[in-house]
Amino acid sequence: MSAILNRRSALGLTGAVGAAFTMFSSHEAAAKIGRADVEPRGSDGILERLPTLDFESYDEFSTSTRVWINTDLNRAAERRAVKILRANGLNPREEVSFETAIDLLSNDPIIDLRNHTWQRLQMHMWRELRREFYDNYDMYMSEMEAADNNGPGVLEINPGIEPEYTKHEIHMQPGGYTGDEFAGHLYHYGTNNFYNGQNYQDERHVALATAVPTPSDGKIKRILDMGCSCGQQVVALKKRFPDAEVWGLDIGAPMVRYAHMRAVDMGVDVNFRHALAEESGFPDGYFDIVTSYLLHHEIPEEATYGVINEAQRILRPGGVYFPVDVYTNPGRRQANGTGMQRIRDWMTHRWNHERWWYEYQKADFFGEMKRAGMNVIEGGPKAEVSSQINMNGGFANIVGVKPA
Ligand SMILES: C[S@@+](CC[C@H](N)C(=O)[O-])C[C@H]1O[C@@H](n2cnc3c(N)ncnc32)[C@H](O)[C@@H]1O
Repeated sequence: MSAILNRRSALGLTGAVGAAFTMFSSHEAAAKIGRADVEPRGSDGILERLPTLDFESYDEFSTSTRVWINTDLNRAAERRAVKILRANGLNPREEVSFETAIDLLSNDPIIDLRNHTWQRLQMHMWRELRREFYDNYDMYMSEMEAADNNGPGVLEINPGIEPEYTKHEIHMQPGGYTGDEFAGHLYHYGTNNFYNGQNYQDERHVALATAVPTPSDGKIKRILDMGCSCGQQVVALKKRFPDAEVWGLDIGAPMVRYAHMRAVDMGVDVNFRHALAEESGFPDGYFDIVTSYLLHHEIPEEATYGVINEAQRILRPGGVYFPVDVYTNPGRRQANGTGMQRIRDWMTHRWNHERWWYEYQKADFFGEMKRAGMNVIEGGPKAEVSSQINMNGGFANIVGVKPA
């Protein structure tokens, strides 16, 4: 492990004082602040339950409210959009420009209610999650520190490697993926909410791991998941391919720290590296399979091309790249650009701080895979997984194979 920076090292708490801090077990830390333990209420399957019923019920409430917004309120807003478009002589099934959609739809009270209820709920969710983790800083931090050097897998942290673009607060997550020590905790419980409460047991990631295409010669020694966040797909991949050496890579140090802790807790032998996907540091031809899930739409176009080329470099001949994202097919979004989709795209970009949403949609993803030297198979195993992963039009519709 290269190094781990946290509040204690930042404060210069080294030597005996630092050691005293680091020796705290989560149980001792919890006792000091009057909490029974980090996991006083055990687990629900593989999900560590939140420490109090009060907080857990808040979390359930915000998840259910999101489900309501994503179903009933969405439908009401969509009906409204159809009416407004028709009243303006437009066919709701046909494409409209972003400018027209924003102009006609963004000030309608029902559409606005949908958009702002969604946005405020998200802000409130982050605030409450963050308050829980920071109110109990030592308890949660001690638990993570206790796992840092434990196995079975390894954790590699490389301080100071984050380029500016990775510091952006996508989804309004405070501190983003790189700037908050509890980014992994926040992201895991936050995305339980994003996924409408349907990923508590990593169902989405298990479905994705099941759908990963394998090299035609059947040899699978090493697998990498790029932009792995809290490592759910990494664990699912190890379960499908128990004999393989499985790695997760992410530019968020707190993300891989949390991922590692979770894998240690679960006793799963997987490894995590804090690195840029476009500069992974792995040798040429090291992997048989490289995956990424929801990475590309969150990075600039140039970085997307960098990641594709890096995947090609670290795959061995015959190896497979399986990128799954909100959109990987040039032209698809444009063809589906009805008024309500346009307004949601705009909201996502403007209010959910998806900074590269439009840039990504314009990127020549397939073209770059071909230019990098991959044989591109369109279609992919989408049907098998679409019901599990279909979020914001998540597509498992493409596979790149490095020629043998
Ligand atoms: C939407 S999340 C991905 C979700 C994740 N694959 C999962 O299954 O839960 C995007 C992740 O990509 C990471 N990331 C962003 N840019 C990156 C880069 N250039 N290299 C590696 N990771 C990156 C972020 O830190 C974040 O954890």
